[in-house]
Amino acid sequence: MKILSLQSGTSADGIDVAIVDIKADGSRGPDACRTPWLTLRPLLTRTVAWTPELRTRVLALADGGSIDAAELCRLDTRMGQEFASAAAAAIKHLGSSVDLVVSHGQTLFHWVDGGHARGTLQLGEAAWIAEAAAAPVLCNLRAADIAAGGEGAPLMGVFDRAWLAAAAADTGGSVATVNLGGIANLSVVSSDGTVMAWDSGPGNVLIDAVVARASHGVDGFDADGRLGAAGKVNDRLLAMLLQHPYFLRPAPKSTGRETFGLPFVDSALASVGGDSPMALADLVATLTRLTARSIAASLRSSGAAQPARLIASGGGVRNPSLMSALGAELVRDGSDLVSSNTCGIDPDFKESLMFALLGFLSWHGVPCELPASSPGRARVAGHIAAGPKPLRMPEPLNGIRGLRVLAPQHRTPAGPGTIL
Ligand SMILES: Nc1ncnc2c1ncn2[C@@H]1O[C@H](COP(=O)(O)OP(=O)(O)O)[C@@H](O)[C@H]1O
Ligand SMILES: [Mg+2]
Repeated sequence: MKILSLQSGTSADGIDVAIVDIKADGSRGPDACRTPWLTLRPLLTRTVAWTPELRTRVLALADGGSIDAAELCRLDTRMGQEFASAAAAAIKHLGSSVDLVVSHGQTLFHWVDGGHARGTLQLGEAAWIAEAAAAPVLCNLRAADIAAGGEGAPLMGVFDRAWLAAAAADTGGSVATVNLGGIANLSVVSSDGTVMAWDSGPGNVLIDAVVARASHGVDGFDADGRLGAAGKVNDRLLAMLLQHPYFLRPAPKSTGRETFGLPFVDSALASVGGDSPMALADLVATLTRLTARSIAASLRSSGAAQPARLIASGGGVRNPSLMSALGAELVRDGSDLVSSNTCGIDPDFKESLMFALLGFLSWHGVPCELPASSPGRARVAGHIAAGPKPLRMPEPLNGIRGLRVLAPQHRTPAGPGTIL
């Protein structure tokens, strides 16, 4: 079936769109048919820019700004409409309809209290997307897990188990992944098929925040890690930042921009003091090291077997300073850092593929077993907006055996005026 995936991450840097074809292998007899191997082939991938004013508003709110009901309604509607146009343009470009859209939406708030997720809010009204795509839309993917006692995040563990468990079993060792989005999330897949997944803390979010502030919003990130490479790590500031209680909490755990934003950096800067303001490059170098160190330390203290290999994805893979700082931290533990590209997945779209897989699972009635879900309480993820036609769901599957990711059908060139 063809599934269109829509999402905008914590960085709110754009709408990631992917259309993939997922096929269930039914050639192994009736039992295997109900627990098939899946193959996933990307047919189209692209990132569509948000209207700048919408992005600015979302970032301000995600950083703690307030909003009234009227504006929340307008924002939810406008984001739904922008997701809808991104979906419609992709379908038009592909030249064929899709069977299902999975829309994660834009997270505005992930409510964590007493160390547990209590609620989560993603914007982008699905009804607009269902109209534009003329297909059912699965949205609100995290709520069922939270209501059943889970964290609702990170979802990547579900994908990584399906994608990597067979490889871990073959090698007899664990394989780990890190997604370097705004927040960094880790999965460790062990050779017995068990998975741990959690947020280690900041990915690009702090680097982006200080660069955006210093440039008055002209630059949104440390392009190609140039500032990080030019600056010098301030050890006192690094030590102060590393004292944040989140880093000490045991996994599984999840976090967001509410915890790791400018107030966190500014209060550490204020405690460290100093005669003159810190140079931007030194601050970026320090935050880059913080990100790398907190990921490596989190992996080390997780209790999972140290993996031979950490497979990185997300926009942070494009930051050579971050990648080399992380590589250097991992070398000490005997782990290798590679981009997911070397394993056949475009690092910019691994999350898109993950959402497509979640869509396939829910569509087939398969519970979304997040690694942190309470035992026996995995739930089918998401709500469905039916769209213009009556809903016809397939016969449920018992589960899946695993997932093979095939090479993309073709690379999609940038479309006019929409691609970042
Ligand atoms: N060329 C680059 N140099 C440095 N950092 C980059 C580059 N391209 C992207 N990034 C980083 O990746 C981030 C976007 O990553 P992404 O995986 O989309 O995060 P999210 O899932 O939070 O949206 C940007 O905000 C930026 O920090
Ligand atoms: Mg993004």
